[in-house]
Amino acid sequence: MEFEPFKIKVVEPIPITTKGYRLKKLEEAHYNLFLLRSDDITIDLLTDSGTGAMSSKQWSALFDGDEAYAGSRSYFKFEEVVQKITAFKHVIPTHQGRAAERIVFSILGGKGKLIPSNTHFDTTRANIEFTGAQAFDFPSPISFRTDEIADFKGNMDLERLEGFLRSHSREEIPLVMMTVTNNSGGGQPVSMENIRRTSELAKKYGIPFFIDCCRFAENAYFIKMREPGYADKSVMEIAHEMFSYADGCLMSAKKDGLSNTGGFIATNLDELARKARDLLIITEGFVTYGGLARRDLETLAVGLLEALDEKYLEYRINQVRFLGDKLVEKDVPILLPTGGHAIYLDAKRFAPHIPPEQFPGQSIACEIYIQGGVRTVEIGSLMFGKDGDGQRELRPPFELVRLAIPRRVYTNNHLQYVADVVGEVYRNRDKLRGMKITYQTQLLRHFTAHLEYI
Ligand code: F0G
Repeated sequence: MEFEPFKIKVVEPIPITTKGYRLKKLEEAHYNLFLLRSDDITIDLLTDSGTGAMSSKQWSALFDGDEAYAGSRSYFKFEEVVQKITAFKHVIPTHQGRAAERIVFSILGGKGKLIPSNTHFDTTRANIEFTGAQAFDFPSPISFRTDEIADFKGNMDLERLEGFLRSHSREEIPLVMMTVTNNSGGGQPVSMENIRRTSELAKKYGIPFFIDCCRFAENAYFIKMREPGYADKSVMEIAHEMFSYADGCLMSAKKDGLSNTGGFIATNLDELARKARDLLIITEGFVTYGGLARRDLETLAVGLLEALDEKYLEYRINQVRFLGDKLVEKDVPILLPTGGHAIYLDAKRFAPHIPPEQFPGQSIACEIYIQGGVRTVEIGSLMFGKDGDGQRELRPPFELVRLAIPRRVYTNNHLQYVADVVGEVYRNRDKLRGMKITYQTQLLRHFTAHLEYI
């Protein structure tokens, strides 16, 4: 795709600020980019979650929302689309992904339970640990070699998974999970073969297998592009096959649902679905809206199918690669190959003079904001540097800075500007300084922590 497969109908001005202003704002925000106001950000690459632009079809679908509390026709449209893609029997809407996580893990988690994945996302891990259960990551070893090119660096390490399943009882492991694409591991795809073999292992040990599928369409596109035997299949067919290996999925529809909010649980497990619906009613809302406005279900019913449009996916993946290529031209160390939704700077190679306990990724992220008003997010010792009960410091395998690209929002001109800003920070990398935390919470500390330069 040489150009965006859409034209622009509505525009929103973006704030243009000065370096002096940004310095002041960042200091007021205690050097935590989550604590900035978006009015002070020029290009916001904090997340690709809920930040996409809806299509004219989605905006018109909003008006068709049937706001009935129970039995809304918008729910049935949504259910039909989710079933068309996943073929799961039960479809339970939630207000976003972590609500689905909280519900499923409060049923299956708890003290003494162990839940493995290729890599759990931060909220997934937090929701597991919040129930007293333990979360385990078994990413394939190649995922740690950030400069090595491989097709499916998001894969599960099947040997370690099998060792883990063998050495624990079925009662201890309520669930095997797989995140596609592997967000915390660099937005890297998982191959169909790896999904199938993970599913076979889970079956062998009698354990349900769930996919965290918030970027399922991007993953399916990579399978089509890279995995032998899939070039002639449609991404819809590929998505179908992916889901056919699982007993259910958890979805944050704020990503490949192309919606600004929403999520769901979908599963074939009757007992789990019954319990989930009970919990849903207590904390989210009735089973046909799950905490969403019914019009949001309408936008999802349209967005989930638009995300499977192959012209859109080609543009999407190429745009991420465009930013990656521009950075590589400037010798900026990034995680290779570029993945589905974001570019990840390798902070260990970017700022090798800052040790992990001084948050090199956060220091780079702050400087990128100061330099050009671009907001990114640290994925390293700040995000993952504490264990579940908040007691021990951990050393995560990566120190990354993620530049997540919102869907259909920025043009390549914006991304060229981002590349220039990051390139400038990289040129002056020797001046980057280590940081320390002055305030933090026990769980998910990166959202609210205060920091300062050492
Ligand atoms: N699973 C994955 C793989 C995610 O990336 C996210 C969110 C969630 C679950 C939770 O979904 O936000 O709707 O509650 N990821 C966002 C991000 C926040 O920036 O990567 P949620």
